[in-house]
Amino acid sequence: MTRVFVTRELLGRAHRMLGYALGPMSVEAYGEDRVIPREALLAGVKDADAILCMLTERINAEAFEAAGPQLRCVSNFAVGYDNIDVAEATRRGIAVFNTPDVLTETTADLAWALILGVQRRILDAESYLRDGKWTSWSPRLLLGRDVHGKTLGIFGLGRIGRAAARRASGFGMRVLYCNRTRLSDDEERTLDVTYAGKGTLLAESDIISIHCPMSAETRHAFSSAEFEQMKKSAILVNTARGPIVDEAALAEALHAGEIAGAGIDVFEKEPEIHPRLLSAPNTLLLPHVGSATEETRAAMAELAAENLINFLTRGDMTNCVNRDALAQAKAGS
Ligand code: DGY
Repeated sequence: MTRVFVTRELLGRAHRMLGYALGPMSVEAYGEDRVIPREALLAGVKDADAILCMLTERINAEAFEAAGPQLRCVSNFAVGYDNIDVAEATRRGIAVFNTPDVLTETTADLAWALILGVQRRILDAESYLRDGKWTSWSPRLLLGRDVHGKTLGIFGLGRIGRAAARRASGFGMRVLYCNRTRLSDDEERTLDVTYAGKGTLLAESDIISIHCPMSAETRHAFSSAEFEQMKKSAILVNTARGPIVDEAALAEALHAGEIAGAGIDVFEKEPEIHPRLLSAPNTLLLPHVGSATEETRAAMAELAAENLINFLTRGDMTNCVNRDALAQAKAGS
């Protein structure tokens, strides 16, 4: 019998989908609605053919060893998969899946909530009112900065970066983008974006929004040197992955007034937050909720289940992030 281990209760129809497709006895889930402790994870994956996991779990050589040689796939409940050692999975012939597309628009919406929230000082204004400080309308009260007509710099123009860029057209913005590969002229025209090197993006953007994947190459892509190059009036938004930004350097840049604000949804060591960031001015901090809507989280759960079912029942590799690497490894062996 196929055995699937699910590391946390799934939303929507996902759990039932797994049961219908593979047989209810095949599916075992960690019973508590919290991050699974490491020992429970290592015990739970034993003899599993497939693991459906959250981004909070480190799925590495230790987890693969604990599972055993019959493990065939890992399906991540997230589009980002930096929690999984994909190279190690490939070496062991294990397919790794993610959940692209279903969270694109929702995450871009949240990036925009942060952009608007920081630029217009929404939290300062709300606290001011709730703290009973508001006595009258005043021309100088809680002045923020405009969003419309400004330059938006998108760092990483994948699916979510493009969705964030599309929203900018309603605000009449100039959009610069920095990406590993440049779009075709047609695509740039349709999206109304201009390709820029990182230096130009840093120097000319009023708002920078990060949308690249986390990798060795993008780790600390934003640190002291980058903040020095940004405008003093610029803000940084990160809804991608925490370690792309050097959190200590960001906190210092905000305290020193090197940049004007930040909207951050993801952190280097979640759920820890650098203490200097907590006290930094004009900073809106959220607990990794980029994709957190009822509709999107249910869609992510269903896609994570579907990826796993389709692979186990008919070898379908849709949304497999190491498909090519597995094929190459097989060809070379
Ligand atoms: C993802 O899917 O990678 C998101 O960070 C989850 O919110």
